[in-house]
Amino acid sequence: MKVLVAYLSQTGNTRRVAEAIYGAIDAQKEIKPLSEVQSLEGYDLAFIGFPIHASNPAAEAKAFLEDKARGKRVALFVTHAAPEDHGEVRGYLENCRCSLNDVQLVGMFDCQGELAQAVIDLLARSDNPKHRQFAEYGPQTKGQPDDTRLERAREFARRVMEECGAS
Ligand SMILES: Cc1cc2nc3c(=O)[nH]c(=O)nc-3n(C[C@H](O)[C@H](O)[C@H](O)COP(=O)(O)O)c2cc1C
Repeated sequence: MKVLVAYLSQTGNTRRVAEAIYGAIDAQKEIKPLSEVQSLEGYDLAFIGFPIHASNPAAEAKAFLEDKARGKRVALFVTHAAPEDHGEVRGYLENCRCSLNDVQLVGMFDCQGELAQAVIDLLARSDNPKHRQFAEYGPQTKGQPDDTRLERAREFARRVMEECGAS
């Protein structure tokens, strides 16, 4: 089985989750930024990760899912500033699912990621009220994803691999 871990990450949170997932996979594997992935041909399974922007997959990831994931076996992992149990998170995950057409979705993982200070400043100045609202999450996101969350990501990867018959 050949597995790809592909990620989009502006400030490093999703990349750290991607690396944890990659480390937990016991199979032929590659890890790449999403921008370097032309196609999912040749992979039996792709873990695709990205941050949530304004309640949706970040634009580049949304375009990738809509265009390049069709017909493929995919597991998604996402990071967001909101705590995992925040009421809006379910909507984020639903928006991610809506970006998939004819995809075999074998799992979805999400966790909180730190809001970088530059992003807090940017969001606080935005015209979009949702962006300003998320600037307020800044202090509670410090240090995320922490070791507990990264371990949850590893467990997710092992479970997906097992369910796909790879271990
Ligand atoms: C433009 C922008 C919009 C964002 N919108 C949301 C949002 O709607 N909900 C949320 O929980 N986090 C939001 N975030 C926070 C990121 O999803 C979060 O910090 C994520 O972990 C960043 O991942 P990265 O470091 O891989 O880029 C937003 C961040 C940016 C830059």
